[in-house]
Amino acid sequence: MNQRIGIIYGDGIGPEIVTEAKKVLEEVASLSDHNFTYEEILLGGVSIDACGEPLTDEAVTRAKSCDAVLMGSIGGDTTTSPWYKLPPHLRPEAGLLRIRKELNLFANIRPAYLYQELKEACPLKEEIIGEGFDMVIMRELTGGLYFGNRETKEIDGVLTAMDTLMYNENEIRRIAIKAFEIAGKRRGKVTSVDKANVLDSSRLWRKVVDEVAGDYKGISYEHMLVDNAAMQLVRNPGQFDVVLTENMFGDILSDEASMITGSIGMLPSASLNDTKFGLYEPSHGSAPDIAGKNIANPIATILSAAMLLRFSLDLDKEAQWVEEAVQQVLKEGYRTADIYSKTAGRALSKLSCTEMGEKIRKHISRK
Ligand code: IPM
Ligand code: MG
Repeated sequence: MNQRIGIIYGDGIGPEIVTEAKKVLEEVASLSDHNFTYEEILLGGVSIDACGEPLTDEAVTRAKSCDAVLMGSIGGDTTTSPWYKLPPHLRPEAGLLRIRKELNLFANIRPAYLYQELKEACPLKEEIIGEGFDMVIMRELTGGLYFGNRETKEIDGVLTAMDTLMYNENEIRRIAIKAFEIAGKRRGKVTSVDKANVLDSSRLWRKVVDEVAGDYKGISYEHMLVDNAAMQLVRNPGQFDVVLTENMFGDILSDEASMITGSIGMLPSASLNDTKFGLYEPSHGSAPDIAGKNIANPIATILSAAMLLRFSLDLDKEAQWVEEAVQQVLKEGYRTADIYSKTAGRALSKLSCTEMGEKIRKHISRK
């Protein structure tokens, strides 16, 4: 079967990590009867430099013509990069927000899983880690504060800025359904996170989630206030299975959840619409400080490619090959700089970005 995969290299370490993930996809293709063709799509700072805007209409059309898109990371150093001298709608992040909206990618899945091999990198105490943890954050991605009207103007001579937080019940319902569906394939628990003691949008969120929960009797669920959820994540992360939340809370909580796994360099993500199409990217950013040094960790992007195989191309077995190869390479003690520890209690080998990609690819080739 021939499938079209969009490739967004992006900025910073993006090109380095996507190159490794693409090699992994090629390895998978060579071992099966699948043929992938690639469409390069410009997004972020590179698109600003080449076309004067972070995402062109042509790039959107190209992305829509693909079965799935694999992306690196976008953006630069916000204090030094000339991209951040531009008005907000022309900065790299505006391109990312636009592609999410144009492709209707409302469901953002961000797993946070503690690899047994990386326990030493987890900043939490042994007694808190317990048996480890394995959760997914299900973040609403095309609504809320990110997409409401915003304005900065003088009111009574005082400079004032406002951002609008708005959700309608349909937007809440469709993401809640995704969360309950995914929980059904996992440990069967949804924690819906909101700020219903203050916000109207959260009170509607609760009402709609309650309605959806009624259709999923086998799934246990609870509501949790976002400030409490931030605290519970470091107090007892093992209690979470699927965390369902709105856009801004999900942005913040997913960074927190990823940090307690030891390295944000390990975590993939998927952004899905209501078809099979998805955009897959690491949960981390473009790390401009280490760009071009061949020391970035390609694992989050490689695992994002695995999610792409599973969710958009229905290649479950192949996705598993990739995930097992990553596990195996970690088990053998190979680490990129971000997950390397001198005090791991055993000898580890420090690898570059390309060496790590190659190790994983080799493991897959033995399937
Ligand atoms: C993320 C990022 C983006 C977001 C930024 C780059 C706009 O932090 O994907 O989590 O806030 O959604
Ligand atoms: Mg973020």
